[in-house]
Amino acid sequence: MDRLETHIDTQTQAFQDRLTHYQKLLEEFKSKLNRVQAGGGEKAVKKHRERGKLLARERIEQLTDGQTPFLELSALAANGQYEDAFPSAGIVTGIGLIEGREAVIVANDATVKGGTYVRETIRKHVRAQEIAMENHLPVVYMVDSGGVFLPEQSRVFPDKEDFGRLFRNQAQMSARGIPQISIVMGSCTAGGAYVPAMSDETIIVRHQGTIFIGGPPLVKAATGEQVTEEELGGAEIHTQISGVADHIAEDDQDAVSICRNIFKNLPRPYKQPLDVQTPLPPRYPTEELYGLAPVDPKKPVDAREIIMRIVDDSRIHEFKKDYGTTLVTGFVRIMGYPAGIIANNGVIHGATARKGAHFIELCQYRKIPLIFLQNISGFIVGKKYEQEGIARDGAKMIHAVANANVPKLTVIFGGSFGAGNYAMAGRAYDPRLLFMWPNAKISVMGGQQAASVLTSIREAQMKKAGQQPRQKEIEAFRQQMLERYEHEGSAYYSTSRVWDDGIIDPADTRRVLAMGIAISRNAPYGDPQSGVYRM
Ligand code: COA
Repeated sequence: MDRLETHIDTQTQAFQDRLTHYQKLLEEFKSKLNRVQAGGGEKAVKKHRERGKLLARERIEQLTDGQTPFLELSALAANGQYEDAFPSAGIVTGIGLIEGREAVIVANDATVKGGTYVRETIRKHVRAQEIAMENHLPVVYMVDSGGVFLPEQSRVFPDKEDFGRLFRNQAQMSARGIPQISIVMGSCTAGGAYVPAMSDETIIVRHQGTIFIGGPPLVKAATGEQVTEEELGGAEIHTQISGVADHIAEDDQDAVSICRNIFKNLPRPYKQPLDVQTPLPPRYPTEELYGLAPVDPKKPVDAREIIMRIVDDSRIHEFKKDYGTTLVTGFVRIMGYPAGIIANNGVIHGATARKGAHFIELCQYRKIPLIFLQNISGFIVGKKYEQEGIARDGAKMIHAVANANVPKLTVIFGGSFGAGNYAMAGRAYDPRLLFMWPNAKISVMGGQQAASVLTSIREAQMKKAGQQPRQKEIEAFRQQMLERYEHEGSAYYSTSRVWDDGIIDPADTRRVLAMGIAISRNAPYGDPQSGVYRM
């Protein structure tokens, strides 16, 4: 394997300026994270603690093995929406180790509107389940929720990926032997009652946990029956009479230790064979990524400079180095795990797409996980390229990505525009995990291009209607479109809507990718399959 050598002088003023600028982006990112980690505000947190309950993130910390990383997903979901009344969308999800076993954890944050579900809460819950399904990871649900946030019911209840999907996913995972464990640490009302009821094994906390299809007010209204919460669905009722729960716990800590005991008794998981070697750190500091991140999409960045700060010993065995040079493809190791890396190094041409498709096939046949590093403005346009069949070549790469049955992991480190997003394993292509750097941008095309296209359509429409387009009006329209694309294309807009699995600090990229490969080994890698390639 060749060792990559940098061509960047990190001592120049220009590089130092970029580092300083990126520090500001990181500060903004960290301050947003700090804000959501405070949950639903001081008053709600106080009330929660007075009930003797731990906060959602504290519960997770107690459940997972000490000194091991927890990869939190989509922490900034719902950020900038609902007047910021739903920090982290009221649910904490992520991947951690329990008794040495990788698991997905889904914990309601009852300090946020009683742990109720808006659209992004459901997207996070369902997404965590998808990750569990694809990687065969047990799921622990730490339940403390009032169910659907009623004013939003039309946006959360009826559709395929809405509230009902939570329970369907539990049933399907249970059928596949993927353990489903609930800890009822608070309210579990209406549809929410099915989370523990559909679980393989359920723990409930005495005097805290309740499970019922309809709460006391609803029962009174429906039948006139007067009943307390405890009589209707408390821990003793469910562990002694109804059988809806299996274990009674005295408090949060006790519940967590019962759950850890359940994990001790789970059968050992399957592990996909991979040639794992001793990890080696990159030969360049990962923090230098801050000075290299393509904050300005117009300034090209050599993808190798990024790769050498992420992979073991900064080594790569490059594939087709001198062909289709706007894509860098090669075999690397990340914390000892083998991976095939595909990184954009400019616009995708026909040769680039053919190279990408070929490399994906190689990894597929060798059963090596794929890592996509996206910084892509799109496919090359123009008469010459259309006549050469850029659409045919692009289709080959998209075919290869769509049918690749090995784990795919995607990091958007720059722009992600147009069909480039598809060819590079965007969300629609089922990457096992997809993360963005704080500077990343995602939209159907870049803001400048979109503003130009829309402005020329507008001008043509005005002319057709017999109006003379006024330069000032046209300029104002262009500016409006530009601002809109800037706003909607930002990583924060994306992560708020759960189009990704979260924003990460670039310096964490290596650790996150290694975790992605590690968890992928719990499910067997698929065999090659392909559709009809247009030759
Ligand atoms: N829809 C909308 N808002 C809800 C809600 C729901 N289902 N459940 C709770 N909330 C809101 C409350 O209005 C309150 O909002 P605020 O902070 O703006 O005042 C906040 O969540 C906290 O509720 P509160 O009752 O003060 O807290 P609590 O911890 O004492 O109780 C619940 C929490 C969830 C147990 C209780 O609110 C409850 O039983 N809610 C109704 C549950 C239900 O019937 N769900 C059916 C939907 S499928």
